[in-house]
Amino acid sequence: RTIEALGTLAGRTVIVRCDLNVPLSDGVITDDGRIRASLTTIRELRDAGAKLVLISHLGRPKGEPEDRFSLRPVATRMAELLGSPVQFCPETVGDEAAAAVASLGDGDILLLENLRFNAGETSKDAAERRAFAKQLAAYADAFVSDGFGVVHRSQASVTDLAEMLPSAAGRLVDAELKVLRRLTEDPARPYTVVLGGSKVSDKLGVIAHLLDKVDTLLIGGGMLFTFLKAQGHSVGASLLEEDQLDTVRGYLAEAEKRGVRILLPTDIVVAERFAPDAAHETVAADAIESSSFGAAGIGLDIGPESATAFAEIIAESATVFWNGPMGVFEMDAFASGTRTVAEALTQTEGFTVVGGGDSAAAVRAFGFADEQFGHISTGGGASLEFLEGAQLPGLEVLA
Ligand code: 3PG
Repeated sequence: RTIEALGTLAGRTVIVRCDLNVPLSDGVITDDGRIRASLTTIRELRDAGAKLVLISHLGRPKGEPEDRFSLRPVATRMAELLGSPVQFCPETVGDEAAAAVASLGDGDILLLENLRFNAGETSKDAAERRAFAKQLAAYADAFVSDGFGVVHRSQASVTDLAEMLPSAAGRLVDAELKVLRRLTEDPARPYTVVLGGSKVSDKLGVIAHLLDKVDTLLIGGGMLFTFLKAQGHSVGASLLEEDQLDTVRGYLAEAEKRGVRILLPTDIVVAERFAPDAAHETVAADAIESSSFGAAGIGLDIGPESATAFAEIIAESATVFWNGPMGVFEMDAFASGTRTVAEALTQTEGFTVVGGGDSAAAVRAFGFADEQFGHISTGGGASLEFLEGAQLPGLEVLA
């Protein structure tokens, strides 16, 4: 159900679940991509004369207020981007929030404080979640679900609230689904998926599912060391998930049987310690402990030979999905692999999708523009679960 299903919105109060979970450093927003992505729906509802109550989480506070997780900077940034006021209420539910909602005029926009400052938002207890959702539902006549990044969560503002009000998917959710369906239904070939990030265990479901779908899987990031180890190589002090070794071996064997190419880096940037100024060297991926740091060396990026090989495969692909950085891109010395992959995506003729907060933040930090990619998904976990073929509770409830 899209916004049309809600009928005339002028003069009605619409509560919109956004995903405004942006990275902050000392209170400063370092990537406003999720705010920008939310604006299409907000502008449309505002221009239709709705009274808008925006809700979102930020970070993972433990059910009570914490200054560093306040949405206040988001309201300020959103107002700048919209060129019109965005009121902010320092509580999510309560007398002050109720009064702020009641004072809204047609086309006004109010952002409530972080949903996760209330234990009910993420509670495992359905009654507690519903009680919180009921307080939110009391503010509005209709609900728009536009936080694509959280549709894989069964949380009060995502699922319970949708059941309590006439509800519909917003434009961002709709746009994300259209793009991601292109990847699951009939991707143009060759189809390459680049996976990085720290944990194999986060990506197991998607890897299993992709073995049916892709031509080539390129593996980088912290998770690559579990693959190298599964192939019998030593990885020094690099990140390793011992308990995933058997699963990974299984994937490698399965991929071979199905003719799917799983490509691992051939060289690795190994550092003396985990620090931006750590001494580092590039060594062969099957000889990580041959660096001057011996068994204490930590792999923090893919090497230049691997990055070039990955870039060549990306260049020849008709569809590319990328999730997860290739190395510790936040540190200059270990950003090169991620930068080369990002650049390769901007240069290929193929259709490219970047998924996940870290990869999106990386491409923007390197100075690439969103328009240089086919699509930058606002969902990390959500886009991966969608590609796994999982049922996403926040979408099910809208069906
Ligand atoms: C994300 O960053 O992937 C979304 O905002 C969801 O956040 P969560 O993983 O804390 O639920």
